[in-house]
Amino acid sequence: MADKTMALTAENLSKSFGSRGLWEGFSHRFDAGSLTTLSGPSGCGKTTLLNCLSLLERVDQGRLLLGEEVISPSMRRRLYRTTFGFLFQNRGLVEQDTVERNLRLSPQLSGIPRKEAARRIDEALEQVGVLTQKNDPVFQLSGGE
Ligand SMILES: Nc1ncnc2c1ncn2[C@@H]1O[C@H](COP(=O)(O)OP(=O)(O)OP(=O)(O)O)[C@@H](O)[C@H]1O
Ligand SMILES: [Mg+2]
Repeated sequence: MADKTMALTAENLSKSFGSRGLWEGFSHRFDAGSLTTLSGPSGCGKTTLLNCLSLLERVDQGRLLLGEEVISPSMRRRLYRTTFGFLFQNRGLVEQDTVERNLRLSPQLSGIPRKEAARRIDEALEQVGVLTQKNDPVFQLSGGE
């Protein structure tokens, strides 16, 4: 069973769109607890790489491992529920809904008890300094918030 203390390893990944090759032979180990930044010119394939590392998109070649385990497409749903987290550039939130209701969706689907979910949501919002906006609709928040 995967957990959050395992490294994510990319082995020899390649991706192209038609005749346009984005990257080839990309290998890297993303250690647990580490922070990685990707930089490069517009269109070089950063977003596509992130999408591939997070199984939103398929690579043409190569494989991904979580710890020692090779990640297969059938593991995707479980990993999204238990291990992966996303913070999308375009937010990916229900704009008309409150911050709290947006955050409640994921624990609800994972079967986390309501009380425990509420505690974790408050804790997370406190950490990023937006606890007071918990009941505001998302569209009222700034980009950074
Ligand atoms: N679904 C797709 N089909 C065809 N080409 C695509 C697709 N997605 C991305 N591309 C092309 O692949 C290249 C890399 O796109 P990507 O979005 O990964 O770049 P990026 O490095 O994130 O750029 P930016 O810094 O502008 O966000 C671009 O030339 C883009 O036009
Ligand atoms: Mg991008």
